[in-house]
Amino acid sequence: MISFIQVDLELNKKTIFRELNLTVQPGELVYIVGKSGSGKTTLLKSLYMDIRPKKGEIQIAGYSSRTIRKHKIPHLRRKLGIVFQDFRLLEDRSVYDNLAFVLKVTGTKEKLVKEKVMHALQSVGLEHSARQMPHCLSGGEQQRVAIARAIVREPLVVLADEPTGNLDPDTSIEILEYLKRINQKGITVLVGTHDYELVRHSPSRTLQISDMNLVESCLVESETGYRPVPAAACQS
Ligand SMILES: Nc1ncnc2c1ncn2[C@@H]1O[C@H](COP(=O)(O)OP(=O)(O)O)[C@@H](O)[C@H]1O
Ligand SMILES: [Mg+2]
Repeated sequence: MISFIQVDLELNKKTIFRELNLTVQPGELVYIVGKSGSGKTTLLKSLYMDIRPKKGEIQIAGYSSRTIRKHKIPHLRRKLGIVFQDFRLLEDRSVYDNLAFVLKVTGTKEKLVKEKVMHALQSVGLEHSARQMPHCLSGGEQQRVAIARAIVREPLVVLADEPTGNLDPDTSIEILEYLKRINQKGITVLVGTHDYELVRHSPSRTLQISDMNLVESCLVESETGYRPVPAAACQS
């Protein structure tokens, strides 16, 4: 589903990843963890081809960074759902219309739009909020709308960049439960986060950014809370 093959990623000539290799299988839920500024956002952006590799190749959902033409990038993005820390809902329209919008731009028929929007809202428990405006909802509810919007086109992969960064711990756990549920339907999910408590609460494959690369990791308890350590140092 996702492969990085000897990938170098740069931002303004600064190397963020060097010779990165990674394979994510269809249906996995993977955390990308690391300190602020370590490159979580950069990695996720490279997957929706907002950042193109300097070297190597990224493969995702049947597309390759080597061969994809610029005008095909929107086609790739239709196979992905993206969730941001700050929700990024359209404030001037209802919850329903936020979801309907992404279907209408690709020409989905009206009758099908309603069906798909309501189905996506149901999967985050917000079918009764369809007519609400985003600002009337709590932060957690707004992020659930953003998750519904991310899945309304039935993507192969959901990329979530610090999806709980603006939420309290209980709400964060709830958001992760919805992401897990989506994953259980077969969608591959990547979550960039520095919330180690959350990862500890819902363990799954964890990759730590270290030394411009990714290391398979687990979380161990330390005096200052949980922290990631390389898998070799983890107890089984
Ligand atoms: N537009 C940019 N130009 C140059 N460097 C950047 C740019 N955006 C981010 N960076 C740097 O790239 C590194 C990785 O950033 P980022 O991927 O946002 O990390 P994270 O999401 O883990 O906090 C950081 O050191 C950051 O300062
Ligand atoms: Mg970031």
